[in-house]
Amino acid sequence: MTANPLDNKTQAWSALFSEPMSALVQRYTASVGFDQRLWRADIRASLAHAEMLGAQGIISAADQAAIERGMAAIAAEIEAGHFDWKLELEDVHLNIEARLTQLVGDAGKRLHTGRSRNDQVATDVRLWLRDEIDALQALLLELQGALLEVAERHVEVIMPGFTHLQVAQPVSFAHHLLAYVEMFARDAERLSEVRRRTNRLPLGSAALAGTSYPLDRERVARSLGMVDQHGQPQVCQNSLDAVSDRDFAIEFCAAASLCMVHISRLSEELIIWMSQNFGFVRIADRFTTGSSIMPQKKNPDVPELARGKTGRVVGHLMGLLTLMKAQPLAYNKDNQEDKEPLFDTVDTLRDTLRIFAEMIGGQPDPATGLKQGGLSVNAAAMEQAAQKGYATATDLADYLVKKGLPFRDAHECVAHAVKAASSHACDLAELPLAVLQGFHPLIGPDVYEALSLRGSLEARQTVGGTAPAQVRLQLARQRVRLGLGSTGPQNQPS
Ligand code: ARG
Repeated sequence: MTANPLDNKTQAWSALFSEPMSALVQRYTASVGFDQRLWRADIRASLAHAEMLGAQGIISAADQAAIERGMAAIAAEIEAGHFDWKLELEDVHLNIEARLTQLVGDAGKRLHTGRSRNDQVATDVRLWLRDEIDALQALLLELQGALLEVAERHVEVIMPGFTHLQVAQPVSFAHHLLAYVEMFARDAERLSEVRRRTNRLPLGSAALAGTSYPLDRERVARSLGMVDQHGQPQVCQNSLDAVSDRDFAIEFCAAASLCMVHISRLSEELIIWMSQNFGFVRIADRFTTGSSIMPQKKNPDVPELARGKTGRVVGHLMGLLTLMKAQPLAYNKDNQEDKEPLFDTVDTLRDTLRIFAEMIGGQPDPATGLKQGGLSVNAAAMEQAAQKGYATATDLADYLVKKGLPFRDAHECVAHAVKAASSHACDLAELPLAVLQGFHPLIGPDVYEALSLRGSLEARQTVGGTAPAQVRLQLARQRVRLGLGSTGPQNQPS
């Protein structure tokens, strides 16, 4: 066995270098501190590459077997926390390759045949991200399921719907929660699109131009599961693009940013709803903290932090876009900077989704299996708030329109009625019939039905409207979409 060139970084590249790297430059250029989390993907891709090299007769069966044996040992070492990551070896790729050669000798040095770290790292990141996307999809499903469960119990709970954060029209609380299910459903759709474009193989592009060895790239793609829905291998078709493309990372961060933006909207609403002035909902104490000075405080730290972390994820998206801007083809070391923002985006989104699923839906009680500690709803406070603010004024206008008045005239007439009611500090429904009739003679005793919150809700039967019957249809549709079966629990307000 010849000396391992990776044993000493000053000689790692060749005899070309006449002085060692300074410690500062070594730290500045190394990525092993953060890219070691790619080790599984790195080993997996190396094994697929080695298997193909063997099948193509580029390396011997014995070398391939030695590589497999060495990689198994390395995986065990890393798993057990015994692997000695070396800064001098710069990154995850060189660390693993150097250890492989230590363990199995020349076979380890043959692994890099027809490969460059440029196509290697692009492959690793894609493989890693693909699996992370799958984990995120599972969490998105959980969060949607949690929202759905709470919604199912609160179809008949009426809250004020807002525009401009002013009371607008009454809506079902379930309807409000289902708006978030729609958002997260779109996030899931976007993530599967991103996954499709992530799941393509750069390996075989070598440094930038392809390679002179007879590689079978489709074989590698198949063994890494980089196939489309028909099982066709997905191989990047231009070597220059393949080694330098980071679109998939940017797209992922864009999808993650949008998902966090949705989380931030939900967070903001939870924070508002939990304030003493609203008192609509409570979240379990473990998602809140106290104040070191004000003993009465219970602060919604988790939703607040999620709102804040949205900024950091959006920042990572901007970081990656700027990283790629104006980069000439093909690989540039700049690209090493893609990892930390990407990793942090995945970590932040994963933790946030997991916490939100639990905060909304609760956790299964070990004894009964029933979920406990999810979002708790103060239906009375919601309904009371909907009573204020003339939430059924539109219904009075619609009532007059149905009796023949043009809508604009009805609108004007109701504005007068609201003005009168507010000067008496009462609701429209509290005005006596004679007073209401003073605003328009078409008003009859059946007006009180139209002015009731429930009547207002029931009237909104358009597809996607807030009438409980429509909300139940949406609940059923979402249950089927999420694979939860077609019937939910009975709608008992809690
Ligand atoms: N650690 C490097 C990265 O993450 C691997 C690729 C290095 N390629 C190179 N030509 N120096 O981008």
